[in-house]
Amino acid sequence: MLNFKVNEGLCIRCGKCITDCPTMCISMLEGDFPVILDENNCMRCQHCLAVCPTGAISIMGVDPADSIELQYELPTAHSMETLIKGRRSIRKYKNNALDKKIITKLLETASHAPTGVNAQGVLFTVTTTTEATEELRKEIYENVSRLLKTADYDKDDLRFQYMNMAHSAYTNHDVDVILRGAPHILIASAPKAIPLPKEDCVIALSTFELFAQTMGIGTLWDGMLQWCMEDFFPELAVKLGVPEDHKIGYCMIFGHPAVQYARTVQRKPGSLNLVDSF
Ligand SMILES: Cc1cc2nc3c(=O)[nH]c(=O)nc-3n(C[C@H](O)[C@H](O)[C@H](O)COP(=O)(O)O)c2cc1C
Repeated sequence: MLNFKVNEGLCIRCGKCITDCPTMCISMLEGDFPVILDENNCMRCQHCLAVCPTGAISIMGVDPADSIELQYELPTAHSMETLIKGRRSIRKYKNNALDKKIITKLLETASHAPTGVNAQGVLFTVTTTTEATEELRKEIYENVSRLLKTADYDKDDLRFQYMNMAHSAYTNHDVDVILRGAPHILIASAPKAIPLPKEDCVIALSTFELFAQTMGIGTLWDGMLQWCMEDFFPELAVKLGVPEDHKIGYCMIFGHPAVQYARTVQRKPGSLNLVDSF
């Protein structure tokens, strides 16, 4: 049930909800108010609620008064550019865990990232305490040790080469290359059955990463953790609560950085294919 409601005292019949609806499922008869005739066509994106200039539309029980008004502060182009260019991969972390409220705020905000066909299926699995992360770290390295002893692997397989390096750094130098000593790990997963599980997860993590940076929190896209969770030890992901019918989109680590950068790096120019006529 969509529960599409129009406040007739507020609706000015401007038709914006009709023209903006991506599935064209809203209609309005002359002199009447907007209606959704076939609910099956609705994508539940809430564009009708968002575009309504007078806040007259409610759908799925959502009250437009609880939305954030958009005429106020948005980051400037300059602040966004600084954020995008100033974001760095953080590989050194302070030991302390983040406040759980901050973690929840970050993840709930990142859940607003777009998803294919508005599936909204991304699950964030996160360790919220240093103890939980420490236990996981130990299990990962125990597993890596067993893997390298027992697996009949291809010596050219890059994943094994990296695992060998990580195992040696951990056992010989007490250096954790897989989790970088971070206080938290984050796995974004989504049901394999939704249209675009991997893409949805990666976009959600990108959103998380940028928002985290505005709060002084550092992140790292963690390919080694990804290999551990998806390829080598999927049972660890299951133990953390990632459902078995989920695709792991990607893994990250995060926490308070123990390193500060004074300036942006300078990348080579972007590869642009500018097509002016076709
Ligand atoms: C998909 C992906 C996986 C990555 N995996 C790792 C990793 O396992 N370990 C690591 O130290 N850095 C990892 N990185 C970080 C990259 O090395 C880093 O983004 C790159 O060197 C550029 O540095 P910057 O992020 O500070 O701009 C990964 C980055 C991406 C996008």
